[in-house]
This record gives sequence, C-alpha cells and structure tokens, in this order.
Amino acid sequence: MNAAQTILFVDQTGELGGAELCLADLAVHLRQRCSVLLFQPGPFERLLKSNEVPTIALAGAAGNPKVEKNSGFAAYLSAFPVFVSLVVRVAKAARQFDLLYANTPKAVVVTAVVASILRKPFLVHLHDIIDASHFSRINRWLLVLAARFASGIIANSAATAEAFQKAGGKSKNLKVVPNGFCVHRFRSDQPDPFDALRLAQGRPFDALRLAQGRPFDAWPDSSTSMKRLVRETPLVGMFGRITPWKGQKILVQALAKLPNLIAVIVGDALFTEEDRRYKQELVELTERLGLAGRVQFAGFQPDILPFLRAVDIVVHCSVSPEPFGRVIVEAMLAGKPVIAARSGAPLEIIQHGITGLLVTPGDTEELVRAIEQLLDDRSWAETLATQGRESATQRYALETVLAEWVGFIDQIERSLPGSRRQMSCDWAAKSTATGA
Ligand code: UDP
Ligand code: GLC
Repeated sequence: MNAAQTILFVDQTGELGGAELCLADLAVHLRQRCSVLLFQPGPFERLLKSNEVPTIALAGAAGNPKVEKNSGFAAYLSAFPVFVSLVVRVAKAARQFDLLYANTPKAVVVTAVVASILRKPFLVHLHDIIDASHFSRINRWLLVLAARFASGIIANSAATAEAFQKAGGKSKNLKVVPNGFCVHRFRSDQPDPFDALRLAQGRPFDALRLAQGRPFDAWPDSSTSMKRLVRETPLVGMFGRITPWKGQKILVQALAKLPNLIAVIVGDALFTEEDRRYKQELVELTERLGLAGRVQFAGFQPDILPFLRAVDIVVHCSVSPEPFGRVIVEAMLAGKPVIAARSGAPLEIIQHGITGLLVTPGDTEELVRAIEQLLDDRSWAETLATQGRESATQRYALETVLAEWVGFIDQIERSLPGSRRQMSCDWAAKSTATGA
C-alpha cells in the first residue's frame, strides 16, 4: 500500500489569526487526506469549509479551557474538567487518523495527551515565541514538556526555534519553515480600489468604511481640490490583531509628533479580555492626544489588500519579539516600504536599509524619525519597497514553502516505525533490487 498518511490538524480557535491563516494554506493543499479540528466554531471554520477542507468545530462551553497565555496555576485547576472533556472529544475524532498535527499552544497540550492515549504520532507547529514576555512560567513548562513527545517540530522562524530551545525544548526533528504567500495576489496591477479611502482625511474619518469598494470618482462630493489634498497627505497603515504586545499604542504616540500624517489601524481584538481592554485604551489614547480625526480604526477586514494598496508606509511595532509577522511580508509583497521593530523574526525578514527599516521596539522617537525619513525621500522609500518586494517574492512564495513543509512532514512520516509510507518505500526498493 502506498497511500499517504491521513492527518488531523488541531487548532484551538475558530478566529482568523496568523497561525490559522498559515495552517489554511497547508490544509487546502492536503485536503484530500486531512481534516481540521477546531476547539471553537468561527470564521476560520467557514474559511476552511468554503475551501472544501473537512472541518470539525467543537461547539459548546466545553470547547476551550479558560487558560490564557499568561495564566497561572489556579486557572489550570479550574479548567481541568474542560480539559478532560476536550481530550475525550479530540480523541474520538483522532482515532481514524494516522498523524496528528497541533497548530496552537492549547492544541499542543491536548494533542500530546490524545496522542499518547491513542499511541499515535504527532507534530507540533510553533507559531509563538516561548519566552517570559509571551507565556507564564507554567505555560512555558507545559508547552515544552508536551512538545517533547512530538515526532517533529516546525517553527515559523529561527527566532521561534531559538526561543523554544532556550525554554528547554528539545527535538531531533526541528525545522524552520516560514509562512508562505500567494505572491501573485499581491502583484495585481489593478487601479487602487481604495483611492476613496484618502478622501477620509478631509471628511469624518468614518468615510473610509463607506468608501469601501467604491471607485474614487464615484465618491459623492469629491471636488478636485479635495482629491488633491487627500492624495497629497501621506497615510500610514498598521495591520494585525489588536493586542498589547503588537504595540499599536506606539504608532498612535508617534502620530502625535507627526502632524501631517493620517493613519489607518486595520485589525481587531480577537482573542482575550486583555486584548479588548487594550483596544479600548488605544481608542481613549487616540482621543486624549487629539488624534481622533487622524486615526481610523477599520476593524477586522476579511481582506487587507485594498488597505495595503492605499497606504504609503506600513508600520509594525511589536513590543515583544514577533514570532513571524505575516503582515510584514504581505506589505513587502504589496510593494510598500515597511518599518518593523527590531526583535524576533522581523530581523530575519528585513535587511535594515535594504528591504525595509528596523527600529528599536517601543521607541516612539525612532519610529517618528524612520517615518520622516521615508516621507522626506520618496525615491529611497520606493527603492526599499522594490527591494523588499523582490526579497519577499524569492523567499516566501507559497509553492516553495509548501514543498519544504510537506517534504518535512513526509520525511517524519517515513521515519515512523511501521509507517505505511516506509513500507511502500521498502517495497519499491525490493522490487528494484530484484529487478521486478
Ligand atoms: N489580517 C486580516 N484582517 C485584518 C488584520 C489582519 O485578514 O483585519 C490578517 C493579515 O493579513 C495576516 C494575519 O491576519 O495574514 C495576521 O498575521 P500576523 O502573523 O501578522 O499576526 P498574528 O495576529 O498572527 O500574530
Ligand atoms: C502567530 C504569530 C505571528 C505569526 C503567525 C503565523 O500568530 O504571532 O507572528 O506570523 O503565528 O506563523
């Protein structure tokens, strides 16, 4: 038998975070031999199903233990019954699969237990930097312990792999595979559908939402002078979920020192109460600094591309090390000059002064200077953007990344004792040797 093994991907959320969008690419590619199990229903489930990926979403209160990345021991005690029920439900679904693949921290812990009960191999995909800025001590310990039983580990960057090892993580099969991107999607030469977005500067900023999808000339009272004004006012964009460590506040503070700039913050608080509080504080800070008319909160957008096309500069200011940072690569592919914080994977993605700019995390002054430099020398900014696009195209094209990723999974599968893939190779080798 030479059938490829069947895989069950396990992910803790139904929301659309970067880890989920990354997994979606692989699941769609392997949809003939995989299913995805989510601890919660949501837009991720709908995305997978609309792409014909068999998907199971666990419904109901037992769906997810209320343990967050920085939770302590007490949270674990109270979450234990939910954890057990989750293990039972995942085990039931996992029985019919050859290989399990955990894509998020809670999924790693649950999958490790399920895999040991069912005696099945599992892989871990690390999308997070396991350090004190992202996880409590007990969570770091649990994750590293659970990952020890995995047959292989995929890290989304060298920074993530290093942090895992520094936290005590060990694996003889650890591979760095970056996220992949559908490069040509970002290369469209279509006219900017969001030209109208710029009009928002001269109007209440909510105009931006109303303008979605409408060509610039169709905007009601768009006088020529208004168009010119709006076209001439630089727009900076920040993309990604709203959470304290992504540092949206740094951009807002920088904006207070850059009077001739407008900004759009695309994304929403997706996961925790802390995220929702941070968003509230962010809005309040914007108002307190008198910037409400210059910052638009666009919320979560199913497609950020039109917004990416509309902005002049993309800023990414995580204050804790970024494990990968899909939005950085997406901005580069869209041909925009990017400024990112010098910590974690951005150091691998961007060559400072060549394919983008890197600034000290949390340093508002440095961010202000970097934005000013790009605005003062537009042709240099364009050079950085062009070089950034070339570099991202070469390194992160989905086909290349998928080949590496699936190659690693296949290699692990073949190395497993009693693997059907191994048997098929043995059979092929024997028939060659005997000249059959
Ligand atoms: N994203 C989106 N809509 C939004 C904001 C972000 O679709 O409103 C996408 C974005 O295009 C990117 C992903 O969400 O692919 C965020 O991934 P990233 O790795 O940058 O950050 P994460 O939130 O996973 O830490
Ligand atoms: C996580 C990380 C992000 C990364 C994404 C995909 O959500 O926070 O940095 O880009 O996973 O690997």
